[in-house]
Amino acid sequence: MAKFFIIGAGPGETDLLTVRAARALSRADVVLYDRLVGDDILSLAPKLARKIYVGKGSGEQEIGQAKIFENFVRLSEQDLNVVRLKGGDPMIFGRGVEEWLFLHELGCEVELVPGVSSATGLPAMLGIPLTARGASRGFAVVTGHGLAGAPIEWSKYSSVDTLAILMGVSRRVEIAKELIQLGRNPKELVCFIENGSSQQQKVITSNLEKVASQSVEVKAPAVWIIGNVVAFYEKLHAHVSLSESPKEIFSENILQVSNEQ
Ligand SMILES: C[S@@+](CC[C@H](N)C(=O)[O-])C[C@H]1O[C@@H](n2cnc3c(N)ncnc32)[C@H](O)[C@@H]1O
Repeated sequence: MAKFFIIGAGPGETDLLTVRAARALSRADVVLYDRLVGDDILSLAPKLARKIYVGKGSGEQEIGQAKIFENFVRLSEQDLNVVRLKGGDPMIFGRGVEEWLFLHELGCEVELVPGVSSATGLPAMLGIPLTARGASRGFAVVTGHGLAGAPIEWSKYSSVDTLAILMGVSRRVEIAKELIQLGRNPKELVCFIENGSSQQQKVITSNLEKVASQSVEVKAPAVWIIGNVVAFYEKLHAHVSLSESPKEIFSENILQVSNEQ
């Protein structure tokens, strides 16, 4: 029987891959890889390993998934190390658990190697914390795209301090309008991280109101952060003079940092 490794490749750059993921890749006989996985990461697999592209374009989710399952069935009977390589973390909008369940039904051994998710890793690298003492007590990672186009119930998430929205670029105008209607401050800062962790990375900061009025251009793939924590990015990239103490920097900005522990 084959052994399967469901691996998170991280958000882009090779050195954001975990050591465990690199080790499993280096022993792979077959690699089934997704659209957002770069060539540098694939090159960590042995030259002779079979590399099979199983990425899904928009609108081909279900056909694509059926093909992945067909590959699983075909490979499962052979004595192979099979790596299923996914962008980010396999358990964050990665269908990792569906694939694990399918392999479990086939009777295969499965090891899941987590990856750095774009939802947390990309903002972190820019200095945007999803939680910060006094500024954000919690966050939600939400899809901008319901199953088969079903609407997202934004009322469930609208009052969470920080929102990280994936797959939300094409619906950003409607989402921003809805969040404002549900009571979020129209002036609240937002940040889109487009093609994060790559040569093409672009960071766009704005506010909810401008997104709602269609004046913010963004291309997919992008992670969209909504919340006061975006102000940290603006501070960190504003070349603040070293003579200002961190306390002064905090006290005059919109973060309303309290003495909360
Ligand atoms: C199907 S989800 C997969 C998420 C992935 N499992 C993760 O943990 O990052 C794809 C979405 O993740 C986000 N994404 C993934 N990689 C990205 C990157 N390098 N730059 C910007 N957004 C990215 C985008 O919102 C994209 O539409």
